[in-house]
Amino acid sequence: MFASLFVIVLGKFINTASLGLPRLFGPSEALVKTAVEMNCELLTFPENETILLQLFREVDRSRMFAEYTSLKGKEATLPLYVRHFHEGNLVCVASAQNNSLIEPTVSNIHYLKVIEPVEGAEIEVCSGLVNLFEGNRLELRCKLKAGNHVSYKWLLNGRLVSQSLLHDDRLLINRTTSQDSGSYRCVASNSFNQTDFFTVNSTEVVITVKDLVSEPDISFSVLKEDIHNYFAVVSCRSTRGTPPVTFSLYNSTEFIASVMTEERFATFKVPLVLGQDLGFLQCQARNGDWVVYGEKIPLEVVPVGGPVTMRYTYDSGENYAVISITIYCEAAKGTHARYQWFLNGTLLHDRGSFYYVHHQHPELAMLMLSVGDSSAGTYHCEVSDSFDNTTAISSRRLYLDKHRLNRLPVWVVAVVFGSFTFLILLVSVCCGIGVVFSEFLSSCLPLFRQKDIMERSLCESIFLFNADTLKNDDDVPHEATTSPCRENRAA
Ligand SMILES: *[C@@H]1O[C@H](CO)[C@@H](O)[C@H](O)[C@H]1NC(C)=O
Ligand SMILES: *[C@@H]1O[C@H](CO)[C@@H](O)[C@H](O)[C@H]1NC(C)=O
Ligand SMILES: *[C@@H]1O[C@H](CO)[C@@H](O)[C@H](O)[C@H]1NC(C)=O
Ligand SMILES: *[C@@H]1O[C@H](CO)[C@@H](O)[C@H](O)[C@H]1NC(C)=O
Ligand SMILES: *[C@@H]1O[C@H](CO)[C@@H](O)[C@H](O)[C@H]1NC(C)=O
Ligand SMILES: *[C@@H]1O[C@H](CO)[C@@H](O)[C@H](O)[C@H]1NC(C)=O
Ligand SMILES: *[C@@H]1O[C@H](CO)[C@@H](O)[C@H](O)[C@H]1NC(C)=O
Ligand SMILES: *[C@@H]1O[C@H](CO)[C@@H](O)[C@H](O)[C@H]1NC(C)=O
Repeated sequence: MFASLFVIVLGKFINTASLGLPRLFGPSEALVKTAVEMNCELLTFPENETILLQLFREVDRSRMFAEYTSLKGKEATLPLYVRHFHEGNLVCVASAQNNSLIEPTVSNIHYLKVIEPVEGAEIEVCSGLVNLFEGNRLELRCKLKAGNHVSYKWLLNGRLVSQSLLHDDRLLINRTTSQDSGSYRCVASNSFNQTDFFTVNSTEVVITVKDLVSEPDISFSVLKEDIHNYFAVVSCRSTRGTPPVTFSLYNSTEFIASVMTEERFATFKVPLVLGQDLGFLQCQARNGDWVVYGEKIPLEVVPVGGPVTMRYTYDSGENYAVISITIYCEAAKGTHARYQWFLNGTLLHDRGSFYYVHHQHPELAMLMLSVGDSSAGTYHCEVSDSFDNTTAISSRRLYLDKHRLNRLPVWVVAVVFGSFTFLILLVSVCCGIGVVFSEFLSSCLPLFRQKDIMERSLCESIFLFNADTLKNDDDVPHEATTSPCRENRAA
């Protein structure tokens, strides 16, 4: 009861001799190094007191920015020459000049944003190198001489870089690819009062992201320098990678040679002995610190050897007429074979009106024919070493023409039917003889057995005879439902 009375009395006393809350107002944005005025107004104050109005940062009262002595409640104008440190929450503090008994009061908070126009942009390559390899990190920073409250844009070859790569004043690419190569430029801008805009461009910085070299492919051809000296001309080739690329060649045991090129391939010459297993060869490719190896291939050159065989398959159209034929040519051995096709002894080039030469695999060549009047004639193929055309081996000759091919089924039917009739006839004769002889020899058991054997071997030889007839007729192909291919071997 007594305490509350005391509070009321005290409150009344303070009230009469106290200050109201000052009100701080003024611009909310200011350009650095310009003069602005903040205003502080105090409406309630004790009579006959000189009031001091002072401007501070809210959190730091040790440093006063401006002050004003107000008599008779005059509104204070607080001049500021704007500096960076003025930015922030400002307050106006009112106090009675010569009366420490009166408690000072603090105004509302007024935020002042200080703008410094952007100036002097340049790019700093934080990640270090302007020439880097794919997968490396790229970090660029847009460095300004002056400016705050800045927004940044980046241009690569004049085109805007995705916002997702930007962090404040930096552009960051964790894993670069060659697509990130080009001329970079940063554009920094800020504005004041939403009326004045400031923009600066940096000078350009050219970044080059090199592709890492890909696994090299290896192949070799054979070179005959003279009768005793053969070489493997080995080629190492990568499909990607920014030159210069260093290619190295290894054999089974050691390094052979190395060359740096401005291309993505290199060739090496390695001495060779025909027909000998010389281990394997392998290419290595390197650019920068990146090293890759290709696959290993055996270094063995087997010269072509006979026999050279030819076989064919065919396709039939309506009425079972043969419309196209594929002839295959194959040498018994040879790792670097070259195939040539001949019709009536004339060399056939890659493609003609009725044929197409297809040499996909080194061990097998194909000649595709459409069967017609112009395709008639005698075919053969020749195989030689690709590095030595004096080694040609010829296949046997095969005569093909439309009429012959299509007459075939009739011919086969005739042979098969003829053989069958002959067979029945023979069997009947055998059995007849058997009946006669069995009566004759019924008393003699061992001889009866012998007759049985005789009869069987006779029948078998008939079958063999027919099979051989078909097999030995080399020039005339025959139709077989199980295997349409036919072998034609050179002697
Ligand atoms: C203020 O000063 C005037 C004259 O100087 C005086 O007449 C008046 O009583 C004073 N007022 C107060 C509240 O002291
Ligand atoms: C306030 O005090 C100062 C000295 O502390 C003096 O010079 C000044 O005249 C005083 N002003 C008033 C209004 O009493
Ligand atoms: C880049 O790497 C940093 C850390 O090394 C990681 O914080 C950031 O998320 C990565 N950025 C992207 C786009 O992957
Ligand atoms: C700020 O912009 C307003 C118009 O939006 C203009 O009237 C005023 O003068 C500008 N202030 C300054 C300091 O430029
Ligand atoms: C910045 O560069 C762009 C084009 O590169 C140009 O349009 C613009 O005017 C330049 N701005 C400045 C401030 O140099
Ligand atoms: C590998 O190459 C070296 C030098 O050319 C040669 O002396 C060595 O015999 C080769 N090794 C094999 C397995 O071919
Ligand atoms: C090839 O020779 C045969 C006769 O053996 C002849 O009918 C055919 O027209 C000849 N073909 C060519 C293309 O010379
Ligand atoms: C073999 O090749 C050599 C050189 O490539 C050529 O001059 C020659 O005519 C060829 N001989 C034959 C039979 O093709």
